[in-house]
Amino acid sequence: CGGCWAFSVVGSIESAYAMKGNVLEELSIQQVIDCSYNNNGCNGGSTVSALNWLNQTHVKLVRYSKYPFKAQTGLCHYFSRSDFGVSITGYAAFDFSGHEEKMMEILVEWGPLVAIVDAVSWQDYLGGIIQYHCSSGEPNHAVLITGFDTTGSIPYWIVRNSWGRSWGIDGYAHVKIGSNVCGIADEVSAVFV
Ligand SMILES: *[C@@H]1O[C@H](CO)[C@@H](O)[C@H](O)[C@H]1NC(C)=O
Repeated sequence: CGGCWAFSVVGSIESAYAMKGNVLEELSIQQVIDCSYNNNGCNGGSTVSALNWLNQTHVKLVRYSKYPFKAQTGLCHYFSRSDFGVSITGYAAFDFSGHEEKMMEILVEWGPLVAIVDAVSWQDYLGGIIQYHCSSGEPNHAVLITGFDTTGSIPYWIVRNSWGRSWGIDGYAHVKIGSNVCGIADEVSAVFV
């Protein structure tokens, strides 16, 4: 299912909700895949379109367990107002190319960031810090930047992917900070709940 756009958006909402002092809830990715308009479900979508939809409709994302992931696009399910769910109150989109220090500040302040990257070379990633070989230059994949580490000689972003825990470093990748590697700073979004 080409639902990376939904995985990254839902991950950012889960994090923002938990950072507000709530327990960490797993929210429905399938709901976003099935219901977000101007997107194509498992055939791909845009994180900004999904955020626009969430921001305009104030739709509540229900728990993952209530609307589980099926890895295919389905009909949108609707829920009653009384059901538990998390809606966003706003979001912001940024271009941080050339300003990755600012992007670090925003991550600390607002929580995990949705980012669009060129991940063509990531298929073979086994670990280490990604620094080169993002040749196509075209953004083609959505991820969630959950943190960074600046303690070593090469500072890096900690990037959560949606390709399973057997990929990369327990499902995550490390990407060098400071030279917009894979276009990681080009199209970044943050949500408020
Ligand atoms: C989100 O919605 C609010 C209120 O409907 C609107 O004022 C704001 O501009 C929207 N945010 C974005 C980034 O579109």
